[in-house]
Amino acid sequence: MYKFGVIGPGAVGSIIGESLQKSGYPVTLLGRKAGEVRIERVGTPEVVILPVEQISEEESVFDYLFITVKGTQLEGIMPYLEKLKHADTVCVLCQNGYGQLEKFQIPHAYQAVVYISGQKKDQVVTHFRDRTLILPENEVTKTLKEAIAESDLDMQLRADYRYEVWYKLMVNLAINSVTALSGNTAFILREEKVRRLCENLIREGIKIAAAEGVHFEEKTITAIMNIYAGYPPYMGTSMYYDRMNGQAMEIAYIQGYLYEKSREHDLHTPCLDTVYSLLLASEMRK
Ligand SMILES: NC(=O)c1ccc[n+]([C@@H]2O[C@H](COP(=O)([O-])OP(=O)(O)OC[C@H]3O[C@@H](n4cnc5c(N)ncnc54)[C@H](OP(=O)(O)O)[C@@H]3O)[C@@H](O)[C@H]2O)c1
Repeated sequence: MYKFGVIGPGAVGSIIGESLQKSGYPVTLLGRKAGEVRIERVGTPEVVILPVEQISEEESVFDYLFITVKGTQLEGIMPYLEKLKHADTVCVLCQNGYGQLEKFQIPHAYQAVVYISGQKKDQVVTHFRDRTLILPENEVTKTLKEAIAESDLDMQLRADYRYEVWYKLMVNLAINSVTALSGNTAFILREEKVRRLCENLIREGIKIAAAEGVHFEEKTITAIMNIYAGYPPYMGTSMYYDRMNGQAMEIAYIQGYLYEKSREHDLHTPCLDTVYSLLLASEMRK
């Protein structure tokens, strides 16, 4: 049987680990420190406790490694990656944004588009919904899907994977930018000017995607705005929570990735350029 490792016992990593563990797959959750993580679900008394091993002490070698640290935390795991894998180990990078794989050159790696909604506070993960990972369809990912077939992890292999990547990029782009910059939750969507800014950001995202050969129709803007409209007013986004907690935001792989692509194609994207500059400025320290 294959050995599975999950690096990063956070919201996404714990849910992947839980899915594999409860179906009897050998899985090890690897964190900065040994301990345990507690998974809770709103509205149910069910609690799952998973053990966490210290990554620096781990001596096992894994066939599949799910990398679920944030994009800003990737450098921290690099010193350990080599000893955790063999020549054919497949890494599945489970992060928002895009472009990480080019920068870090993780061998045999694929990036998943992640639809797992949860939040970690101290050692408690609250799982809200979904267990979906979308990957490009190829022989390697087909073998992986078969290898985890007994679990409730919803692994979807797509020929149109790039469309999924760009769709999620645009969903993340607008709402993360406006919540992180305003320091306010989805409540701000009640203001029409904020909604217009979101629409313009998505429109610019569509323009960049088209230059990259991925085409969306104008109605995608309405579809994404409808997703936002379904958010409860108190809901934050990952960038909002990172900013509120004084942690690094994943700007480089969402707004930064799009900004670089916009420059590459010589596009006019004033809203993106503005929010990207302001996000960078918000992280500057004297
Ligand atoms: N949460 C969501 O709803 C959601 C949805 C879709 C996509 N995503 C994306 O998924 C990725 C992961 O997000 P997340 O929400 O799961 O983040 P998270 O809850 O902060 O989890 C990250 C985990 O990685 C651990 N970690 C950091 N550096 C490490 C190191 N050097 N060695 C071992 N473990 C390390 C952290 O440990 P500590 O606990 O010690 O800090 C934390 O447990 C992000 O790219 C995010 O944008 C998240």
